[in-house]
This record gives sequence, structure tokens and C-alpha cells, in this order.
Amino acid sequence: MNLWGSRFSKNQNNFFKSFNNSLKIDYILIKQDIKGSIAWSKILLKSNIITLSDQKKLETALNFIFKEIKDNPKKILLSDSEDIHSWVEKKLIYMLGDVGKKIHTGRSRNDQVTTDLRLWCKDFIYLIKKNIINFQNSLIFIAEKNISSIFPGYTHLQRAQPILFSHWCLAYFEMLKRDFERLKDCLKRIDVSPLGCGALAGTGWKINRKYLASLMGFSKTSNNSLDSVSDRDYVIELLSIASISMMHLSRFSEDLIFFNSGECNFIELSDSVTSGSSLMPQKKNPDSLELIRGKTGYVYGCLLNILVLLKGLPLAYNKDMQEDKESLFRSLNVWKNCLKMSKIVILGLKINNKICKKVSKKGYSNATDLADYLVFKGVSFRKSHKITGKIVLYSIKKKKRLSQLSLSSFKKFCKLIENDVYKYINLKNSLKRKNSQGGTSKIKVLKEIFKSKMYIKNEIKKI
Ligand code: ARG
Repeated sequence: MNLWGSRFSKNQNNFFKSFNNSLKIDYILIKQDIKGSIAWSKILLKSNIITLSDQKKLETALNFIFKEIKDNPKKILLSDSEDIHSWVEKKLIYMLGDVGKKIHTGRSRNDQVTTDLRLWCKDFIYLIKKNIINFQNSLIFIAEKNISSIFPGYTHLQRAQPILFSHWCLAYFEMLKRDFERLKDCLKRIDVSPLGCGALAGTGWKINRKYLASLMGFSKTSNNSLDSVSDRDYVIELLSIASISMMHLSRFSEDLIFFNSGECNFIELSDSVTSGSSLMPQKKNPDSLELIRGKTGYVYGCLLNILVLLKGLPLAYNKDMQEDKESLFRSLNVWKNCLKMSKIVILGLKINNKICKKVSKKGYSNATDLADYLVFKGVSFRKSHKITGKIVLYSIKKKKRLSQLSLSSFKKFCKLIENDVYKYINLKNSLKRKNSQGGTSKIKVLKEIFKSKMYIKNEIKKI
């Protein structure tokens, strides 16, 4: 039975009924719906709309309903209710009779659904923040553990300059830090209560919306009832943040897939996050990372889904908006799982230091150091760039590394080159000199590790 049947003379078409029902998706809002309903019962009492005894009965029943299904919310799905809001109300009526019929006074499912969804987003942000921090912690752990590992750095997927592997780890730490900050900022706009806005116009009952908001743990109330019931900006914002963060996780995955490839062999992924081929016995595939990269597309799709869903909607509520939840719930879960997976992958990773060091010396990745050396000797940079280019070309022809050229060969290109050039362009010194703030020298990387630890220590307290 529907809650609004009396205006209708015909039953709902069975197919329409299941087409229209959102319970299968929104049942996960049960905790938030109960929280909102308890707060609503209290405001009804405070406004003298119901008696203290009615309020107590409602609150007890709501708590009882929650306790009953807490461990297995899927039990809700046995019902044919249209959505979670109707399911809770019907339960109350079943348990309390006429008293249950009072809960929806002055309230609409339009302000109720967005209240529940905002509460759910707040709860989920808490979970996501914890997952981000866990992943960041493991990046720092691995960075610290491998502080001496030298790694080839790339641009255009060409060997460019040597870096520390820890520096690479901290690059992802920074990306995740921005995601974390974006969440904090977005939370300010989510933490606003729309309850009391009714279907679209507000309510005729005298209720204190500020107090109502505080009962649910919201810091503010919304300003315009029309906007409040039709606003899903916060869903878009969260999905945008999820998309950006998934893009970070996808690049992280792509980097590791490349480093792990047979061609590079810079790292080895743990057996526990790879899988074999059903045909080729030698294979160990980086499925965990490929899946993160793949799932990123799904999250982008969800963001686009909501943007398109809302763009043509007139004010205020339209049933189209019911379609916001599946995209939001599924993609935030995907994001959470990918953060967890990334953490497991990075913690199990081993660096093939010998290969990395050897490769870092190849590919003329110290050519910039040679150019800098010439500048140090008084040559202008543009000139030194030209001279170095010629030296590189010569070395390629001779199949030699820069450090393998004799001093007399160097001198053919520039008389100012002396014996100290070898020290200047060696791998260790090249890294040591990248001592600008945010650079890859060990001193600066260690400093950033320390700062990152402090950041986490501070943020954990505030979560
Ligand atoms: N299940 C609906 C949703 O998720 C709740 C709001 C329904 N409101 C309405 N007037 N039909 O959007």
C-alpha cells in the first residue's frame, strides 16, 4: 500500500511500480533517515504539534527499527515500499498506529531526501578522509624506507633526469593532500540542513530550523526553500573531487604498471596483488593497478551523468533527481576501494635498485648537469646547451656515456672543460645539487617527509 493512495482510483501498473521504486538503491540511507526522523519528532514536540508521549513513542520506535535492521539493512529490500522514507514511515504506522501517522506533519520527502543524502555524504567524507590518510601514510613509509633509491625520472616518457624514488612517492602524497583539502572545503557546503523547507515553499508550522539542524549535527541551515530541495551541487562537487582523485590514482597506477613492465623492471609488485595468465605460465599481471585505471572511467561517467541529469531541470524537485544516488553511492565506493587497493600495492612493492641505478646513468640524463657545469665555468646557458647537445650527439655515435668521454674529447667541444667535470656530472652529485625547495636532493626530500608527517598528525586530530 502506498502512503498517498486515496487520490487514485486505479492501482499502479506493476512494471511502473518497480520502475519507480528507489528502495533498492536508497535503503542504505536508513541510518540517516532515522536520525532525521528523530530530530523531526523532537521539533514537532518543541513546536507543540505532538505531545511528549507521542514523541517518546516515535523516538523509541525509530531506534527500535534501526536496531532491528542495523546488522542486515538488506532486510529492508523484502518490502515493496517506494523508497526508504516511505518504508520508515510505514513501519512507524505499523508499530504505533495513529501516532506513527503524525511523523510526516510539515515534512516532505523532497526536503527529507536531500537531508538524508547530505548526512550520508558527511558520513562518507569521514570514511574517505581516513582512506586518503592511510594511503598517504603508506606513501611516506615507503619513501622513508627507500630514501637512498635512485630512480630514472621521465618527461615525454623519455629518460630525463635522475630522481629519488622517495621523491616520486611524495609527488603522489601532494596530489592526495589536495584531494583531502578539496574534501574539507566541500564539506562546508554539504554541512547545511535543508530540513524544514517542505516540498518547495517552506512549512506553515512554526519550527526552529536552526535547532532542528543542530539536532542532526548540521552547522547551518539553508536560505531558500526552492533551492534547498532542488540543489544537488554537493553531489556534483563530491563526484568532481572523486574524479580528480581517481585521476591521481590512475596516474599512480600507470606509473607503476610502466615501472613494473618487463621492459623497465624497475620494481616488482607483490604476488598478492597480481594475477597469472590462464595460458602463459610466465606471466604476472598488475591487475590491481589496471583495475584502478579502468575504474576511473566509471567515476568520470557518474560525474557526467549527474551534470547532464540536472542541466535541464526546472525548479524545484523532479523525479529525475532520484537517479542521483546510484551514481554517487557506487562511485564513492569505487573511490574508497581504489584508495585501499593503492595502499596495499605500494606497501608490497620492491625496488630493483641495481637496475634503477644503472638506467638512471643511461640516456644522457646528466646532460643538463653538463650544461650547468659549462655555465659554472662562465659560458652562457644557451651556448652551453648547444655545446652539450653536440657532445651528446658525439657520445651517441661513439656509443659512450658522457662520463666515459676522455678529457681531450670534451676539450674538442669546449676548452673550459677540466677534470672536475667528471665529479660534476656523476649521479650522486647531480641529485645532491637539486637542492632547491621541492627538489629531489636527499636533504629536501627528507625535509618534505618530515613536513608530510606533521601534516598527517595534524589532520588526523581534526577528522
Ligand atoms: N525517492 C525520492 C528520491 O530519491 C524521494 C523524493 C520523492 N519525492 C516525490 N515528491 N516523489 O528523490
